[in-house]
Amino acid sequence: MKWSILVLIYMMAKNKLTPPKTIAVYIHWPFCLSLCPYCDFNSHVKQNINHRDWEKALLSELEHYSKIIGTRKVTSIFFGGGTPSLMEADTVAKIIEAIEKHFSLAKNVEITLEANPTSSESKNLSAFSKAGINRVSLGVQALNDESLILLGRKHNTEEAKKVIKIASDNFERFSFDLIYARPKQTKIMWEKELTEATKLARGHLSVYQLIIEPGTPFYLSQARGLITLPNESLAVALFQMTQEILDSANLPAYEVSNHAADGEHCKQNMTYWHYGDYLGIGPGAHGRITLDGNIYATRQHRAPEMWLKRTRMAGHATQTFVPLDEEEIINEIILMGLRTKTGIDASNFYLRTGKDLNEAINDQAINRLKQGNFITSDQKGIRTTMTGLLRLDSIIKELAPF
Ligand SMILES: C[S@@+](CC[C@H](N)C(=O)[O-])C[C@H]1O[C@@H](n2cnc3c(N)ncnc32)[C@H](O)[C@@H]1O
Ligand code: SF4
Repeated sequence: MKWSILVLIYMMAKNKLTPPKTIAVYIHWPFCLSLCPYCDFNSHVKQNINHRDWEKALLSELEHYSKIIGTRKVTSIFFGGGTPSLMEADTVAKIIEAIEKHFSLAKNVEITLEANPTSSESKNLSAFSKAGINRVSLGVQALNDESLILLGRKHNTEEAKKVIKIASDNFERFSFDLIYARPKQTKIMWEKELTEATKLARGHLSVYQLIIEPGTPFYLSQARGLITLPNESLAVALFQMTQEILDSANLPAYEVSNHAADGEHCKQNMTYWHYGDYLGIGPGAHGRITLDGNIYATRQHRAPEMWLKRTRMAGHATQTFVPLDEEEIINEIILMGLRTKTGIDASNFYLRTGKDLNEAINDQAINRLKQGNFITSDQKGIRTTMTGLLRLDSIIKELAPF
């Protein structure tokens, strides 16, 4: 018997996990030109950014973790934010080179950068392509000027369309984000906007229902009655319309908010949802790393200046590095997996927990949800139905046992 199989059997017998051979890398750039009233991501406005200092610090945190993790094949890299299209293309190139040097890149590695569709940022898209980015995700948010003003965006519909065209000229793969169920949005407005989006899209679209996050300016406006979201029945109708329009445009949902043609799924997202390992670099970035038979949850210091200071002093700004216990792992796999069309895969569940999926989850809850047509389940795994996706939060509460 091969040595690696013996190790695997030993680890499973001791209920210790073997690290996956692959890993995804997330790089967080925390700065934006201005703050949008709905956003609670780790984003900040700063006038004078010392790009050399930030480049050095990101490279040093990356090197620090590469020594801990050892050899892995990187299947995807994601520059997220904030607004990473405000990074210098040279910094992006150096980070990609460093990832290649410390790890190794899969042959078909996906390297995505989130970009805001303002005309000034669009000028850098071809430089990002030369730097090694092979996929961009544009924050279009709406194809309607009134809504873009309401959402506090710095671009208008015409600019967004121009930038989509530039993205399609420079990248084989690109996606854009839209936010729906916005204040004052009607079914007719959304139908027109989404149909137009299907004509502009190539292979992938992210379509998020607006969430009013506590602490954001929209939260205050809602509390003061200045903005009102669509009621539940309109929100459900908008969700169903989204599925119908995108299904018929060959962009079916592969996750609650993400739609793609065959083979166009975002690899980075799939790593999170199928509970693969990922390394998070930069302020507030999270990671999940399998080491010494455990899965560690990592989090970097969230405040940009504190992150920079600590990284300068210690080479990294890790705030959390803790092994997850079995219950936390099971809960996370369920929480992530149920969001996706492929659901929780039983063999992957066994690899990541050493447990049988159907034994780990309450039989009665599974039967109840199956009878209500909220989920389907068999030997291969558990999947949420379309009806289930509309009640995702309550399904997760029923199925996540801890
Ligand atoms: C990291 S954010 C933004 C990236 C980029 N800075 C931008 O604004 O386009 C990624 C996406 O999350 C979505 N998003 C952010 N806050 C949201 C909210 N409160 N409700 C729904 N979608 C949201 C937006 O579509 C956004 O493009
Ligand atoms: S939505 Fe994008 S641009 Fe707006 S504050 Fe959030 S991260 Fe920055």
